[in-house]
Order: sequence, then structure tokens, then C-alpha cells
Amino acid sequence: MKQINHFLSLESIEPQVLKSILKNAHALKKNKFNPSQIFAGLSLAMVFDKRSTRTRMSFETAMKQLGGHTLVMNMEEMQITGAESVKDTANVVSRYVDAVMIRMSDDAIFREFASHAKIPVINGMTNESHPCQIMADLMTIEEKIGDVQGRKIAWFGDYNNVTKTFEQAAPIWEFDLVIACPPDLIQPARNTKNITFTTDPMVAAQDADVIVTDTWVSMGQEGKTIDKFMPYQVNAQIMAAAQPHAIFMHCMPVHKNEEVAQEVLDSPACVIYDEAENRLHAQKAILAWCLENAGVSVK
Ligand code: CP
Repeated sequence: MKQINHFLSLESIEPQVLKSILKNAHALKKNKFNPSQIFAGLSLAMVFDKRSTRTRMSFETAMKQLGGHTLVMNMEEMQITGAESVKDTANVVSRYVDAVMIRMSDDAIFREFASHAKIPVINGMTNESHPCQIMADLMTIEEKIGDVQGRKIAWFGDYNNVTKTFEQAAPIWEFDLVIACPPDLIQPARNTKNITFTTDPMVAAQDADVIVTDTWVSMGQEGKTIDKFMPYQVNAQIMAAAQPHAIFMHCMPVHKNEEVAQEVLDSPACVIYDEAENRLHAQKAILAWCLENAGVSVK
């Protein structure tokens, strides 16, 4: 029996596979006005327990542009939030569609679902990781400034699921990740050859190729105090310390004048809409790999 191509985390997939997915994402973007119908006859289910604009729209558009079908379920409408087990749900979903993308807060339940599924399962974001986002981010960096290897990527603010996924990407793509965050969020055990923490935002910004941040209040953390993050706001001073070619990235949604100053959003360094568009192209390539066993090929 063939192995199922689950897209659960960057750590769960061979580095050369991830790199070939990224290469395909660039190729699919080049061909965006003349897409091959490689997903004809195939269906993707999307299950959400949280809000989404980019993840939902990019997966839905990716499937449909390439000839496939989608169906969307809010988890609260499914029997899984009642009496039905994760195992039964995973087995039943596997009989209806060819792949399933899940946005689920609880990473352990997400993995339990994948362990029972007979079709590819894609991580549409859990509290622990957001691998589809980082694939689009890496694609954007390659597009804007070239090879990611040896670059300095500086992260500012909260230490969250997106930061953790950048941490997973750093040794694979061999870039230096510097995380500037409040002292209580420093993770000494996470320091490696590619990853360093600092409480000084200017140390992180100095000569960086990429400046990146995210909301200080992730979904489900409403009411959280944000005062301690103010020194880590990405503003003109931070951008001025970075390389002249440095780009500003944010997975969105953006909270203007909290984690990023309006002046940065208005500057030519800001590539957040290209980054959001690249979710679509990266999603196509991720789906193509997941659906390889169904006969899909990008070539
Ligand atoms: N960045 C991201 O995942 O966006 P959505 O929450 O809108 O899907």
C-alpha cells in the first residue's frame, strides 16, 4: 500500500520534497492564466474551527482553477463536536473526498484525525503550526530577493504558531532566524545553529533581509494584554536598520499601528499582498503533491 502524502508539518516531510513543492508553486504561478486541469474529478473537503479568509479562499480557488471540487464544513456543524469520535469522522470523510484540509486549534486532535484518515490531510493551521503559510512566505522571499539560503529573517513580537513554523523551516532552507520578543517569551531550548532569540529589536533588524511579524493576539486569545509587545512594533526605524533590499512580510490579518506601523505598510518594502496571493500558488503545489497517489502531476 502506498504511503499517504499528508501535509501535517514541515518537519514531517522530506526537505527535498518540500523544495520540489516550492519549485512547482513557482511553475504553477507562471502558468496561472492557462492552468492545466490536473485536479479534474478530485474533491477537497475543508474543515474549520476558526475564521479564515486567505486559507479558505486560496484552497477553494486552487482546487477549482485546476478542475477540482471543494466542500466546506464548519466544525461546529459536524458530529465530531457531539458524540462522534475523531476516528469515525476521519474514516467517513475518507470515503467522500480525495483530500481534506483542516484548520483546527488542537494540534493533538488534528494529528489523531490524520492517523485515522485514508486520504491526505493538510494542516490549514493549528495552535502549533501553520506550514501552508510558511510555504507561501518562502515562495515570496524567493520571488522578491532570490535564494533563501544564508539570508537573515528577523521575526518581531509574539512567539506563536507561525514563529514555530519559521523555526522548523530555518534548518531545512538554511537561513538564519532571529526572533525579537519580550523576555518572558524567549525559548532558550529552541536556540540552534540557525535560530537565535533576542530581547533587542534593533539586534534582530540589523542587516536583515526579511522583516516579519504577526498579530500579538492570535485567534482565541482575545483580551490578551499587548503593552509588552510595543517595543517590537515593526516601524520605519526597524526597516532602516535592515538591508536596503529588505522586504516586510505579514501573514495577515494586519492590526495597523499595533504589530506594524502604517508607514511600513505604505512603503515599497511591504509585500503582504503578494504574500497573500502566493498562498494560492503554494496551495496548488501542496495539493498536487498530496494528490500524487491519485495520479496528479504538475509536469
Ligand atoms: N494567514 C492566514 O492564515 O489567513 P486566514 O486566517 O485568513 O486564513
